[in-house]
Amino acid sequence: MKIIKLKEVDSTNEYAKRLIDEGESNFLVIADKQYKGKGRLRRTWLSKPGGLYFSIVLENKFSYIFPILIPILIIKAIDVDAKIKFPNDIVYKGKKLSGILIEHYKDKIIVGIGINVENDLEGLDVAISLKEIKGEVKKEEIFNNFLNLFLDYYKKLLSGEIREEEILKEYKKLSETIGRYVKLTLPNEEVRGTVFDIDFEGISLATEEGIRKFPIGDVKNLR
Ligand code: BTN
Repeated sequence: MKIIKLKEVDSTNEYAKRLIDEGESNFLVIADKQYKGKGRLRRTWLSKPGGLYFSIVLENKFSYIFPILIPILIIKAIDVDAKIKFPNDIVYKGKKLSGILIEHYKDKIIVGIGINVENDLEGLDVAISLKEIKGEVKKEEIFNNFLNLFLDYYKKLLSGEIREEEILKEYKKLSETIGRYVKLTLPNEEVRGTVFDIDFEGISLATEEGIRKFPIGDVKNLR
């Protein structure tokens, strides 16, 4: 996989789109900082130097697996006792350590990953950096850990060596959302209920009206 390293960019996801426009695929773009870092739900992603900001562009083949697989690989790569908050935030003691923004563009998938490693979070108390948890950390080491894991899992997915159910099982073990009473904010309604399952298609809630299932893509928020 081709790796493009940049000092500064608006957003690695946007840069990836421009390269896709030029006909590129199967590449990774990483930047030291972003001046228009994007989060989910049109939020901004603070992207000061010291954090990891990168996007992977692939053919669409396993796009339904990535929202479930990528957070598992991030937790393995950072090697701390973090959990996954639905759909794919990485949290440590309730504070956000890493986020994923997956976008579909033309016939490609862009997996954008941000990890707070040594970056300044400007006193944001809903977020935390790896440095605060582990002390000394090097973002290059975390990136290499992630990339090796990703390439290995991707190869195994292509060859059929790992099964989707195994990935789902790992996700569920790391989920901090399953079993919780939550409020899902959907485009036209709010739904409250206890989460009893998450799979590749979405999240299932036990609500007052019975069991209801929502596709991952439809869920706008979870508090
Ligand atoms: C979220 O939790 O809201 C998703 C955050 C995703 C941030 C990453 S940083 C690299 C890539 N480029 C962006 O502009 N966003 C993603």
